[in-house]
Amino acid sequence: MADTEVGTSGWRRLWRALWRPAARWSVGALLIVGVIAGILFWGGFHTAMEATNTLAFCANTCHEMHDNVYAEYQSTIHYKNRTGVRAICSDCHVPREWGPKVLRKIQATGELYGHFTGRINTKDKFEANRMRLAQNEWRHMKATDSRECRNCHSFTAMEKAKQRPRAQLNHATAEQRGKTCIDCHKGIAHLLPAEYDEAVDEANFAPEPAAPKAAAPGTPAPAQPPPQQAAPKN
Ligand code: HEC
Ligand code: HEC
Ligand code: HEC
Repeated sequence: MADTEVGTSGWRRLWRALWRPAARWSVGALLIVGVIAGILFWGGFHTAMEATNTLAFCANTCHEMHDNVYAEYQSTIHYKNRTGVRAICSDCHVPREWGPKVLRKIQATGELYGHFTGRINTKDKFEANRMRLAQNEWRHMKATDSRECRNCHSFTAMEKAKQRPRAQLNHATAEQRGKTCIDCHKGIAHLLPAEYDEAVDEANFAPEPAAPKAAAPGTPAPAQPPPQQAAPKN
């Protein structure tokens, strides 16, 4: 048809025009326009990435997060502590490095699908899915050697002598035993899933030393009964 022919030749003309050297624009002007457009795009992209990393966004955008994990997190040490250093959702859940961060953001668009299809939109549905969601996080943290925890914590920055005895014992040998933070520190910011069985992780912890009959050389003999083993859950 004549109509389509006009149409296609129109497109063809536009295409050719796009590739024709610009007579009225200098290369310099084109470069400047390109650079400015690039900066604007980059700025917008970056702003969007950061806006979706704030506590306000993660806590308040959907009630799935607000009513469950956010509410729980508010009573943990990562929300409020003596020194006032706060770890927000993105500190633990979004990588800092550029590549992994973009990948995580793309993956998060799948969570939008979950939201709009109401996958976890009630307390019951959330709890029914919590084990699966937690396992995803555990797998991810194990695979990255708890990379996000290490944005703030590290074994080398720990003053181990000031830690509780059980912490000292475990941290001293964790690396050589191939253990990472999440192997021993599950449920630090949220309630653990009902299906989670602590016994599964028992082998991750350093074996408790035998009851001190004679104190090991170099360690002061305990004057009082040995420290309590049943420590509170963090
Ligand atoms: C944004 C920094 C930050 C990130 C990320 C972070 N933490 Fe923390 N963590 C802190 C701060 C600050 C404290 C509180 C220190 C204090 O006041 O003693 C803390 C405390 C802790 C405690 C001590 C709890 C207690 O009762 O004494 C544990 C265990 C812990 N973090 C584990 C983790 C693990 C595991 C991860 C990764 C999943 C992680 N943290 C990620 C900053 C962070
Ligand atoms: C092999 C197990 C294990 C690994 C791996 C491990 N921890 Fe711990 N951590 C413990 C135990 C056990 C405690 C003591 C808990 C208690 O007493 O309630 C502890 C205590 C802590 C404390 C509190 C110290 C104190 O005395 O107040 C912090 C902070 C902490 N761990 C952070 C980390 C971080 C960050 C990592 C990863 C870099 C990590 N841990 C790896 C077992 C481990
Ligand atoms: C200190 C690190 C830390 C912070 C801060 C944190 N999380 Fe988590 N989050 C975890 C870990 C570790 C898991 C894996 C499950 C577990 O061990 O509790 C998890 C699991 C989850 C899950 C899966 C469901 C579940 O309960 O296991 C969701 C959803 C989640 N976090 C959202 C959030 C949101 C939203 C915030 C901010 C309001 C937040 N997290 C803050 C460490 C953190």
